[in-house]
Amino acid sequence: MKKITIAIDGYSSCGKSTMAKDLAREIGYIYVDSGAMYRAVTLYALDNGIIQGEEIDESRLKQEMKNIHISFQFNAERGCPDTYLNGERVEDRIRTLEVSNHVSPVAALPFVREEMVRQQQHMGEEGGIIMDGRDIGTTVFPNAELKIFVTASAEIRAQRRYDELTAKGEACDIADILRNVEERDYIDTHREVSPLRQASDAIVLDNSHLTIPEQKAWLLREYQRAASK
Ligand code: CDP
Repeated sequence: MKKITIAIDGYSSCGKSTMAKDLAREIGYIYVDSGAMYRAVTLYALDNGIIQGEEIDESRLKQEMKNIHISFQFNAERGCPDTYLNGERVEDRIRTLEVSNHVSPVAALPFVREEMVRQQQHMGEEGGIIMDGRDIGTTVFPNAELKIFVTASAEIRAQRRYDELTAKGEACDIADILRNVEERDYIDTHREVSPLRQASDAIVLDNSHLTIPEQKAWLLREYQRAASK
């Protein structure tokens, strides 16, 4: 079968990464979590005092973009790639609620998007890639052979994120998570550059009531259909 490009977009915490990672493992494709890249930029800004409270020092961040090097290295134990920021493994640090609370304003900055999209397009040059995010089917890979748009209710998404964080031992409050999910949805769909929206040729998946094995099987069928065309 030919090597295609698969774009998975959708709202926060709707299980995009889980399904994308599973499929990549199954079919031997590269998996790229584009959200991890925006999270890594946000972590850099927090660590270096570029974000103070709610304020982002945009001109400093713009200047510092050249010092932010993000890469992925396959972790055989987890069976998926880990995110590295300037050589340091930051896979856990980018997933905290603190980073989640600041990432959407950072990801709305045009110069941040421009640089991340450039790197993402470079990673996908050879095909055989699954990338998940908000603008993959619309901006990063508008010619992707398979585009999926995932959605689920905000309450179900918040519950999933709560379960994920508590399983890792992070103390959190479900009301804070729901607020964060709703705030990010709002910023992601209303920003000027590459807002989150469904590509006209995307297939919609509402996975509110699907189990992980069910959504995995659904995605595998869609992949087989797209790759055999
Ligand atoms: O996993 P979760 O749904 O929490 O989000 P994520 O995929 O890790 O992305 C974190 C944030 O990065 C999103 O809320 C968006 O603001 C931003 N993002 C984006 O703007 N464009 C992308 N292609 C991916 C993420």
